[in-house]
Amino acid sequence: MEKIYRLNDLEKKIIETLEKTNDLTALEELRKETFGKKGIFNQALEDLKNLAPLEKQQFGKALNLTKEKIDLLIKEKTLKLEETKLEQTLTQKKPDWTLPSLPFYLGKTHPLTLVLDEVLKIFSEIGFSSVHGPEIETDENNFGALNIPEEHPARDMHDTFYIAGENLLLRTHTSPVQIRVMKKQSPPIRIVAPGRVFRHEAIDATHSAVFHQVEGLAVDENISFADLKGTLEFFNKKLFGKEIKSRFRPSYFPFVEPGAEIDISCTICKSQKSNCPVCKGTGWIEMLGAGMVHPNVFKAVNIDPNQYTGFAFGIGIERIAMLKYGISDMRLFYENHIAFLSQF
Ligand code: DAH
Repeated sequence: MEKIYRLNDLEKKIIETLEKTNDLTALEELRKETFGKKGIFNQALEDLKNLAPLEKQQFGKALNLTKEKIDLLIKEKTLKLEETKLEQTLTQKKPDWTLPSLPFYLGKTHPLTLVLDEVLKIFSEIGFSSVHGPEIETDENNFGALNIPEEHPARDMHDTFYIAGENLLLRTHTSPVQIRVMKKQSPPIRIVAPGRVFRHEAIDATHSAVFHQVEGLAVDENISFADLKGTLEFFNKKLFGKEIKSRFRPSYFPFVEPGAEIDISCTICKSQKSNCPVCKGTGWIEMLGAGMVHPNVFKAVNIDPNQYTGFAFGIGIERIAMLKYGISDMRLFYENHIAFLSQF
């Protein structure tokens, strides 16, 4: 028991010293004296060897408790002194104006935004103003008014996200903006409508469930297929260079008649190589869909198809960005890796 009394004295003494210690060096000294190899506690452990078993057990237990307590107190004091020291440094030290500044990084425009801006700019040069429509659409605007009635097989191709219990969906293309504009505005109309579109698709290098399109629409008296050709040829040349050729192939979209798919001559191999991975040796790359506005679409928005004609087109922004920058995997656009994005 006498040993335990001495342990209490020891604890008291250490705590007293600890309270008086006000700098970190002295505190470190105290820590060494207490816990070091030749420190107080190690000596006490030596003493333990010579005790009778029962005493050994009791003293050992008391010794451990004291050790833990002192250890905690020293750690707390260290933290406190470190805090005080930092505070003093911060309040007393004058800032060093000669230190170099921290590096800072200028943000960059996302490649999809770059392409989108360029597309809108090209069309603005020939009188197309930019309008926006909502991402949540009615079934009627996304399909019905665009001459895609229910049960029409074209609906299957759109893999639509429907909103349960409502007659609403996430728009599968930007074409419904045509409907919104024609319902509100009478011809002449010349608009482009950029935005996000949604399809229930498995994601891979060339497919995404969310992607971007720009819709175009021109309606007036006497608009002909020649106007459509001229407009898109102008666009292709502006975007990819004067030497680029455009090709129009007959195609089917329910909201246009006639409909066409437009290809450009291969930007990579300049239509020279049979093993080109981009045009697959055909010399042509699919660019966009277009056509003359279908009379049924005009009827759905109360525009007289006998007085007015028009053309429409739909451009995929990801597709153009991939071509323009030579990107082979669409997922790179959405993963937001700084190393990728900082290249543009
Ligand atoms: N909306 C079509 C799509 O997403 C693209 C399109 C094709 C738009 C032809 C048009 C058009 O305006 O005339 O697949």
